[in-house]
Amino acid sequence: MTSLYLLTDCHYVSKKNWVEGRPFTSRERGDQICLRYSPEILDTFINRIIEDKDTDTVVFQGDNVNSGDMTSHYEFRERLDRLKAAGKKVYMIPATHDYCSCNGEDECFQKGSVRYTETGTEPVEVMPRSGLYDFYKDYGPSQALSVDEESKSYSVRVSDKVRLIAICDNGNGRSHCGLFENGVKWLASQIKEAKEAGEYVLLMTHHPVISPWDVYAHMADFEMYGGYKELSNLMCEEGVRVIFTGHTHVQNIRKYTGVNGNYFYDVSTVSLVNAAGKMRRVTVDTEKGICDVSSIGIDKIDGVDTGDKSAYEYLYSLNFTGLLENSFPLIFKDYDAFLVSVDGFLPVDKLARHRGLVKFACKKIGKMKLSTLAKLGGGKKKLTKEQFDYSKTVIVIDTAFTVCRHIFAGNAPYSQDTAENIVIGAAASKLDRIVSKFKIEALQKVIPPGSSLSVMAQDFLCNTRTGDDDSITINLA
Ligand SMILES: [Fe+2]
Ligand SMILES: [Fe+2]
Repeated sequence: MTSLYLLTDCHYVSKKNWVEGRPFTSRERGDQICLRYSPEILDTFINRIIEDKDTDTVVFQGDNVNSGDMTSHYEFRERLDRLKAAGKKVYMIPATHDYCSCNGEDECFQKGSVRYTETGTEPVEVMPRSGLYDFYKDYGPSQALSVDEESKSYSVRVSDKVRLIAICDNGNGRSHCGLFENGVKWLASQIKEAKEAGEYVLLMTHHPVISPWDVYAHMADFEMYGGYKELSNLMCEEGVRVIFTGHTHVQNIRKYTGVNGNYFYDVSTVSLVNAAGKMRRVTVDTEKGICDVSSIGIDKIDGVDTGDKSAYEYLYSLNFTGLLENSFPLIFKDYDAFLVSVDGFLPVDKLARHRGLVKFACKKIGKMKLSTLAKLGGGKKKLTKEQFDYSKTVIVIDTAFTVCRHIFAGNAPYSQDTAENIVIGAAASKLDRIVSKFKIEALQKVIPPGSSLSVMAQDFLCNTRTGDDDSITINLA
């Protein structure tokens, strides 16, 4: 039995790089993850890993730090050193948040990194892409069976019969986040070599190979692993059954079936510093050829006082949707407090100017029942009498907030037999007809070919994937 932990998108930010103030809060709200407690969150997970004496391998899947600065890299590497000192084998790959473009050397969306002061920012020393390999050599390449010269991808034997191939897909940052021709050849040769040695292959990389939702690849193909179609074909041809990914910050497990009927799973893990942050525990039973994946979150953050709130409730208010959910009641109770709460994230000046209108509109929205939406959207005739009675007790905005809570956390809550799913699905179908009749281009643009708003809505209402985003058993044989 071999087991390992997977952690991704730790987005570590050194406390030396910020002080409390609007600049840092704005950055954090924009990033949709918890940056301020990223050290404590990472340490909490590491403490749990060290307590587990049965698991000796830990893998980090990129975006290890948030903005490629050296101070965060030094502190992040100290955490890897701590795991190593505790007897763990540690492997990591970098991704695009781990370096900055230096003197035009790399094409990267991060041109530099900063320290956040009370009123602005000041530049700090950054990691160039070329510096990553030496800096993290002891956490992968030094233990490798083979390293791809060009991409610095590597393969390691995590146990007798299990080979982990770590694909460094940092490409050139934006226009291509995948392997180039020689890298693809190297990968194919590693898979072949492992098979000849009778080893099971686990692949891991940063960017997704299967899109979490169809709209994701449709709108942001560059966010996918560069060459994901070719890699999907290769995995199906070679019978590689699983790839572990990150980047989307979405907890999801999706299956791809190729033309030959062969299939694989993309097991994507939520960002560690998302409110619903989790790590995955992967166990390979080499006798049976079975790979078990489970997920582990935390209730408390070591060293952070969250009062009577769980870590999730405490952190969720830092997210865009959490902030909106928490701030919404303030519109009616204390409008000034509402403005303070959404400052830096909603246009506060406009909200202050149109106080009366905002209050009126939100009162209407805040009171709307699911039964009203059922009548307006044409879903009423699809509901049973019991479901319609139930829909009179449900506030639409509460349903919307519940949907939002599952966007990153996975396992969307409204299966296709629920009133919520039926009503929203019908309303989306009606909207589809309006979009097509009036040729509403802005919406037509976001709909993938062959899809519709009602199909897209299902991705966010229920688990259209493999049934459970937190766990799966995969037959590797
Ligand atoms: Fe990330
Ligand atoms: Fe990323």
